[in-house]
Amino acid sequence: MMDEQPTEISQGAVYCQRDLASVLLTAEQIAARVAELGRQITRDYGGQPVVVLGVLNGVVVFLADLLRHLDLPCEVDFVTLASYGSSTVSSGEITLVREPRLPLEGKRVLVVEDIVDTGRTLAWLVNWLRERAAEVRVCCLLDKASRREVPVRLDYVGFEIPDAFVVGYGLDFAQAYRNLPYVAVLKPEVYQR
Ligand code: PRP
Repeated sequence: MMDEQPTEISQGAVYCQRDLASVLLTAEQIAARVAELGRQITRDYGGQPVVVLGVLNGVVVFLADLLRHLDLPCEVDFVTLASYGSSTVSSGEITLVREPRLPLEGKRVLVVEDIVDTGRTLAWLVNWLRERAAEVRVCCLLDKASRREVPVRLDYVGFEIPDAFVVGYGLDFAQAYRNLPYVAVLKPEVYQR
């Protein structure tokens, strides 16, 4: 017999519900906010073409949903970043493992991220893109603003969240939990094992 858990946790997470402390953002809350972001971005670009550039891997779920709310001529591409000299992207030296395949010269680029934490990843990427694209804007679903170490301009933010270990809707711990339909707080004993 499974432990009794609130309905939100058991939705789509029977296999791992014991690992989750609480649901921070429900699937419904996320869907409503993503639709709002899509409308805002559509309005702001005013029919101008945009290259939507997702930062892999965590962005895949958010990007797939956001794209369907963009009423704009879009190209879609991805980058993968890696860091060396550290076990976390946050403190290591950052490099591009996968560069964009599309030419960016003269284009408007909208970088899409799942979460901004220290800001190091995004600051590095925005610098790199500014040397290539005509314009760079940033859209992230989750902003852990209290953790910022490097200032970075976020043009579109889904939710500002507290400094908790969150998983789901694309976000992982040790590559797990990306498939949860909501954003949940992971129990400390899971990542402190
Ligand atoms: C996460 C997230 C950002 C970065 C943010 O990626 O997608 O790219 O960390 O952290 P920062 O603001 O401290 O630089 P992660 O390294 O977890 O890879 P993933 O997207 O493949 O899960």
